[in-house]
Amino acid sequence: MISRRSATLTGVVTNQDLDPRRLREAFGSFPSGVVAVAAEVDGELVGLAASSFTSVSLDPPLVSVSLANTSKTWPDLRRAERVGLTVLAEHHGEVCRQLAGPVERRFDSVPVTVSEAGAVTLDEGVARFDCSVYREVDAGDHTIVLLLLHAVEHGAGNGEGAPLVFHRSAFGRMAVV
Ligand SMILES: Cc1cc2nc3c(=O)[nH]c(=O)nc-3n(C[C@H](O)[C@H](O)[C@H](O)COP(=O)(O)O)c2cc1C
Repeated sequence: MISRRSATLTGVVTNQDLDPRRLREAFGSFPSGVVAVAAEVDGELVGLAASSFTSVSLDPPLVSVSLANTSKTWPDLRRAERVGLTVLAEHHGEVCRQLAGPVERRFDSVPVTVSEAGAVTLDEGVARFDCSVYREVDAGDHTIVLLLLHAVEHGAGNGEGAPLVFHRSAFGRMAVV
């Protein structure tokens, strides 16, 4: 039976409940994978970890990530002709933290492939995408970056297997039920 409530969900009454900390906690209840977004720019590897990856369209082939407007990396990354996306594998917890940490160490000991056009992908990822920036959409304190896919690779080599799962600020793995 459906019970109707006249105004708001019980316990969600005032705007005070929408403070960033509470929102982050609530958003964190939604499990996701994590991608590495990376490119070679001016001879340097630049990139970050993003859990906001979403598939968007088949024709044209589009995916998106939502990036904080405070990102210091995105202004460099967006200049790349091609950007690589890698779906991180379940053993990539430490690599993921590294990709979100100090910029000068993000790619230390991480095996990567750099395409001729500068897309950087992780060799041990579950799936890899070669993309270019299609459109950027203002979205509050974030920017939704739509990426056009030029090539896709998945299910081959070391990457075959399970993805890293991000849930409630922690890393986990998929359980087959
Ligand atoms: C698991 C995980 C997921 C993340 N997802 C996002 C995301 O979707 N969008 C984002 O802007 N930053 C995300 N971050 C933070 C970035 O990886 C990075 O730390 C942040 O952009 C600051 O670095 P920057 O100033 O070099 O961009 C995530 C970090 C972690 C550890």
